Amino acid sequence: MTTADLDPVAEIDSVSFSLPWPKKSFEYELRNPFSRLWVIEAEDDSGIRRIAGMICSWVIEEEGHIATFAIHPDYRRKGLATRLLGTALLEAAREGVELVYLEVRRSNLAAINMYEKFGFKTTGIRAGYYSDNHEDALMMTLEALDPIRLQAFLEDIT
Ligand SMILES: CC(C)(COP(=O)(O)OP(=O)(O)OC[C@H]1O[C@@H](n2cnc3c(N)ncnc32)[C@H](O)[C@@H]1OP(=O)(O)O)[C@@H](O)C(=O)NCCC(=O)NCCS
Repeated sequence: MTTADLDPVAEIDSVSFSLPWPKKSFEYELRNPFSRLWVIEAEDDSGIRRIAGMICSWVIEEEGHIATFAIHPDYRRKGLATRLLGTALLEAAREGVELVYLEVRRSNLAAINMYEKFGFKTTGIRAGYYSDNHEDALMMTLEALDPIRLQAFLEDIT
């Protein structure tokens, strides 16, 4: 992700979440040395490449935390999230991250299914975590990141 991507990234965030980040949060994260930000592009119906998804994670020594992650509704169910998350996890593993965790709404079955496919396990519940509707968050954790396995997985799906 670069500053040139900020408008489409903020747009994807705002159509994907009931508590979206303001654009200035992404601007801040681009300067945050602990942040790792990626976008994924895809062609629209006219063959023009567009930013179709984004992920922001934080890396502190051997721990990673997925802060926000979404695919634009027009581009879902095409495997883009799988490629984007797989790439972010591979790059994290290459810089020494061993464990990644995240929070996800209990009702967000699409995301929970996706994280489970990567091997994330539910390791805790944060009761009433989300300020808009006081929904619980599941805390999900992926341990023992393996760059060789992640690279093979990405080669298989591309
Ligand atoms: C969750 C999200 C990122 C998935 O993006 P996507 O590009 O559609 O996902 P993929 O096509 O790579 O699918 C990966 C897996 O996710 C699961 N999945 C995705 N959408 C699903 C849905 N609507 N219902 C059930 N499972 C779903 C499936 O297990 C799928 O694997 P499969 O295609 O083999 O069945 C997307 O729905 C999204 O942006 N949601 C809103 C934002 C969000 O919830 N972000 C996560 C916050 S923690």
